[in-house]
Amino acid sequence: MAPLAMIKSLPFLAAYAAAAATYPVKPADLTTPVQQRLAINGPNTVTIGWNTYQQLTQPCVQYGTSAAALDLQACSSSSVTYPTSRTWSNVVTLSNLKPATKYYYKIVSTNSTADHFLSPRTAGDKSPFQINAVIDLGVYGKDGYTIDMDKRKRDEIPFVDPALNHSTIGRLATTINDYELILHPGDIGYADDWILKLHNWLDGKDGYQAITEQFFSQLAPISGRKPYMASPGNHEAVCQEIPLTSGLCPDGQKNFTDFINRFGRTMPTAFASTSSDTSAKVAANTARRLANPPFWYSFEYGMAHFVMIDTETDFPQAPDQPGGSAGLDAGPFGTSPNQQLDFLAADLASVDRTVTPWVVVAGHRPWYSTGTSTCGPCQKAFEPLLYKYGVDLAVFGHVHNSQRFAPSVNGTADPAGLQNPKAPMYIVAGGAGNIEGLSSVGKNVSTNRFAYADEFSYATLSFLDEQRLKVEFVRSDNGQVLDSSVLFKKHDQQFVVQ
Ligand SMILES: *[C@@H]1O[C@H](CO)[C@@H](O)[C@H](O)[C@H]1NC(C)=O
Ligand SMILES: *[C@@H]1O[C@H](CO)[C@@H](O)[C@H](O)[C@H]1NC(C)=O
Ligand SMILES: *[C@@H]1O[C@H](CO)[C@@H](O)[C@H](O)[C@H]1NC(C)=O
Ligand SMILES: *[C@@H]1O[C@H](CO)[C@@H](O)[C@H](O)[C@H]1NC(C)=O
Ligand SMILES: *[C@@H]1O[C@H](CO)[C@@H](O)[C@H](O)[C@H]1NC(C)=O
Repeated sequence: MAPLAMIKSLPFLAAYAAAAATYPVKPADLTTPVQQRLAINGPNTVTIGWNTYQQLTQPCVQYGTSAAALDLQACSSSSVTYPTSRTWSNVVTLSNLKPATKYYYKIVSTNSTADHFLSPRTAGDKSPFQINAVIDLGVYGKDGYTIDMDKRKRDEIPFVDPALNHSTIGRLATTINDYELILHPGDIGYADDWILKLHNWLDGKDGYQAITEQFFSQLAPISGRKPYMASPGNHEAVCQEIPLTSGLCPDGQKNFTDFINRFGRTMPTAFASTSSDTSAKVAANTARRLANPPFWYSFEYGMAHFVMIDTETDFPQAPDQPGGSAGLDAGPFGTSPNQQLDFLAADLASVDRTVTPWVVVAGHRPWYSTGTSTCGPCQKAFEPLLYKYGVDLAVFGHVHNSQRFAPSVNGTADPAGLQNPKAPMYIVAGGAGNIEGLSSVGKNVSTNRFAYADEFSYATLSFLDEQRLKVEFVRSDNGQVLDSSVLFKKHDQQFVVQ
């Protein structure tokens, strides 16, 4: 969402002391790992990303299946930064992991502790598992959401750092054993909203970086334990969202720079197909070639194939692109204008439903939403492909609340409802909480089946078996299940083309 309305409503209180940006305290040991983040990078492969306050010549991670013996080590030479950042982003890849196995790992530093993760399930593993969709999250505390912001609510139930009153991050922590990974398609830290806090006005450049550091530290207890699969939203694009002013942003705060620096080397491209079908293998190889992480890519996990799309750039009338409706002047990132859509077509065509019956697509801007924030160009570009290849569920955010839609195509509900529809089911899970607050559910539309904007919430997706996917919305502060539905799909065709 654009914060323009909020900027206009800011009181002009020159009397507020203009303080400096609220950077976290630098650890004395500059090799201390911060902002840890895991990602699934390929079959049996996990990347571990983290930042440090100095460049590392050789980032390394020790790991193993026993806490007492971290007998494996992986290293890289990947330690990069960008203008305006105080930190370096480091990445190490752990490959040849045993599937669905608990691994312990320790980032090598003179000041680090061990953590653990579950290695990815092999494509085709039909065991049930749960994931979360958490979108439009944002920093908490002095530069983010606080309980005294006008009528917009925030909830308490602190867990990770009680002083910050996390609600969604707190719930993600208390339920950490219930889910195996997180999808976060866009609007991640809200660093560009530094402008909403007066104390940042004299130093927006540092305000942006300070929020980035704070947010990814707040997230680290979650993203250092669970693969955190990210794709871009409008808040990742430039230093602030006032349309057509991105030219004023300093180098380092334009064109998705932090997003690329942080996630570009951790997210996957697309998996090689494990189908016995030759054309599926060819299509998957095409998808691998056209993928462009962290903007658009795919991965497979157990009985699901996930595709992350970029609703910001790289399709006709993409909103964040030069000339686009958001005025953010970012991208494009493909080497040809059709690269993303060609990727999506090849990737979806490659999915062998006997291996991964479920197909989920996640992106930032929805085209089904109550209220007014729908992305017409996104619908035009993506919806025909989602329908054609029988995508089961599409997950979006951008609108700051929770919404569920009937399986739909071209604005019309599929007459089959949740019982083996041909059209994708759609959800908006953008109510995770951020400085801009919740958006009212607005005007209903005929395809909507649930809408909620009273408290922060997010979605859980439970892959129960090859034919049943349970979608629930959870209230962040108390764990209450707000809405629960089960999508039934027969999945009786090896390749869906309709
Ligand atoms: C070591 O790491 C901890 C936790 O990240 C941090 O609080 C502490 O300041 C670090 N110590 C030094 C000497 O940098
Ligand atoms: C957290 O909540 C308490 C009250 O529950 C409040 O006093 C405090 O200011 C809040 N902290 C932040 C950073 O919002
Ligand atoms: C953003 O970066 C991409 C990739 O480097 C580049 O192709 C594109 O032109 C850049 N966009 C702008 C507006 O600078
Ligand atoms: C959706 O609308 C497009 C454009 O009018 C049309 O080509 C397509 O056949 C429609 N799809 C379905 C499933 O009705
Ligand atoms: C929106 O309208 C549809 C029918 O048009 C109805 O089924 C649904 O319950 C409504 N949604 C809400 C949140 O009231």
